[in-house]
Amino acid sequence: MSRRQTNPSRRLAGSGPFGGIFHPKSRVSPLLSVVLIIVGVVLLIGLFRGGSGIFAGNKEAISKVEGDYSCTLEVQRAIPILKKAYGDNMRKVLHVGPDTCSVVSKLLREEETEAWGVEPYEIEDAGSCKSLVHKGIVREADIKFPLQYRPKSFSLVIVSDALEYLSPKYLNKTLPDLARVSADGLVIFTGYPGKQRAKVAELSKFGRPAKMRSSSWWIRFFGQISLEVNEATAKKFEQAAIKLSYKPSCQVFHLRSYH
Ligand SMILES: *[C@@H]1O[C@H](CO)[C@@H](O)[C@H](O)[C@H]1NC(C)=O
Repeated sequence: MSRRQTNPSRRLAGSGPFGGIFHPKSRVSPLLSVVLIIVGVVLLIGLFRGGSGIFAGNKEAISKVEGDYSCTLEVQRAIPILKKAYGDNMRKVLHVGPDTCSVVSKLLREEETEAWGVEPYEIEDAGSCKSLVHKGIVREADIKFPLQYRPKSFSLVIVSDALEYLSPKYLNKTLPDLARVSADGLVIFTGYPGKQRAKVAELSKFGRPAKMRSSSWWIRFFGQISLEVNEATAKKFEQAAIKLSYKPSCQVFHLRSYH
């Protein structure tokens, strides 16, 4: 708050030496205009990165526009299809992925669905997330390490936009752990190789660029760690998707939990 209040006065004071340019008769030297433009751009970038400033409201709109890359957004769109495919197994859902608060809030609005969330990175938007975190429904956790949940705590675990940032060495531990905390299935939403655009902001947030793997890569990897694709549910999901004219822009894998 205080930052926002002090900004205008600082900017006013700063414009002192350049005050003349606003006078209609004065001539602006080309060099001065260039300098002013650069200063303006730098200020804008600063505001954008600060996030909490004037553009905070806009940021969400921007991420929605670019949302076609985001599989977390895809999870939200897919909830009706998931319900058709999983039925009763949607009663206790854990979502793992960035912006999990948005998915959890949406799931909680569904009838007969309880939902929890794990945010693999920093919880950014404390605003709408605050009460979910406060109630212990959403947690921040490094998914390279075992999750603090008992085996089979959830009927279904859904993960999106998170595994892409893990190397096979970590995937080898994280995927079995996600299967461990689920009782009736694990659903993976992941991008197609070559289709996804990496956002600069995301790169710095996750520390490494996302690696999109092909469907055959994933299937081979699941085999290595003895995770089975649930063909029956995958088929149900596909049929429900066709019925509701839903075309996922992410790869969706349906895996069985360990027994
Ligand atoms: C992952 O585990 C599988 C089987 O447990 C093993 O064959 C494979 O080499 C491991 N991969 C890595 C990168 O550790």
